[in-house]
Amino acid sequence: MMEVTFHDRKPEIKEIMDILSMKPRLVTFVYGPINSGKTELITHLIEQLPEDYVVFYINLRTKFLASYDDFIESLFEMEMETYGSMRKQKETFAELVSGVTKVTGIPITKEFIDYVFKDNKPKNAFSYMIKLFEGVTHSGKQPVLVLDELQKIGDVKVNGPLIYELFNFFIDLTKELHLCHVFAVTSDSLFIERVYSEAMLSERCKYLLVDDFDYKQTMDLLEGYGWGEREKEIAWHSVGGKPVSLVRLINEKGSEKKIEDVIGSMFMLRTGEIETRLKLVKELGDEMMICDKRCDVHHEKLVSALKMFVTREEIGMNEVDEVSKRYLVKQNILFVDPLSKTLKPQSKLNLLAIRDVMKDV
Ligand SMILES: Nc1ncnc2c1ncn2[C@@H]1O[C@H](COP(=O)(O)OP(=O)(O)O)[C@@H](O)[C@H]1O
Ligand SMILES: [Mg+2]
Repeated sequence: MMEVTFHDRKPEIKEIMDILSMKPRLVTFVYGPINSGKTELITHLIEQLPEDYVVFYINLRTKFLASYDDFIESLFEMEMETYGSMRKQKETFAELVSGVTKVTGIPITKEFIDYVFKDNKPKNAFSYMIKLFEGVTHSGKQPVLVLDELQKIGDVKVNGPLIYELFNFFIDLTKELHLCHVFAVTSDSLFIERVYSEAMLSERCKYLLVDDFDYKQTMDLLEGYGWGEREKEIAWHSVGGKPVSLVRLINEKGSEKKIEDVIGSMFMLRTGEIETRLKLVKELGDEMMICDKRCDVHHEKLVSALKMFVTREEIGMNEVDEVSKRYLVKQNILFVDPLSKTLKPQSKLNLLAIRDVMKDV
């Protein structure tokens, strides 16, 4: 396997470094289509950061989150192993603070575990975290909190939606206390749309779009692996600047496969998936909950929404009815950007697959 090293992202890195060089004031939402390289960017950046930053990175992607206890368990490092060694090495809170490394989950001592689990009160967990971050600050370092795939908390309820408690906590950490930088990362554009229209967050957060690579970045990446002009153009015209697909193509070409064949099978797969989805809606119907209202999904409306992409790559987000828009975004076919108010396919491959499927409906 060809080892593809981290590529570019200079403007995004600069923007994040600028944020980190100042005192924490705003919550930063990092968003973008699926597999655009958000997690890769954050992990790369963490590696590059000087030692005086302590990054608490939590990826909720693989976590099961249905209750308050699940949330606490996903946040804190207290698996039996850690717990066991912690008892040996980090008996006290002070020892724990002095022992935090550059990147870590959120460590917790035995004495605080009961406290954060007590009474299902997110505030207990948050006040413990503030105490931890203050400890880090007192040791002369700058804490940074990163929650990846934050939308997974979207539906957890603890006497009301947990997400609001969390947003309040983020605002405390930044705007109020200037204690800790907060980055919330998500691939779910419906979630970002909700965040964007959230009154409590207005003026208290900023947004950083991490999109697929543009033409030049894509050409440069492929150039670096010795690709010729013809193949670079083929790649751009079929998968665009989607990092995950480009990495796959580089690897497959490295193992002597013809890139046309690899692209062909990726395209067939996606076309088939979209066709099946539309067929299911046509034959069985489907529904979506929007603001606690059950809404029917209509096949013909989905088709007319998708047809707009036959001649255009991007449309206004309000050109499509709300139910179809949300459904197609939820199915990972489209990506909505509430900042530029646009709607576009999740990737070039999706655009081409949509165009192909639209020929036969
Ligand atoms: N800047 C980059 N340089 C090289 N490869 C990248 C880059 N960004 C993403 N990738 C590749 O794409 C894959 C998907 O990226 P990831 O960060 O997981 O996407 P996201 O978090 O946006 O869904 C990564 O596993 C990596 O192989
Ligand atoms: Mg990710």
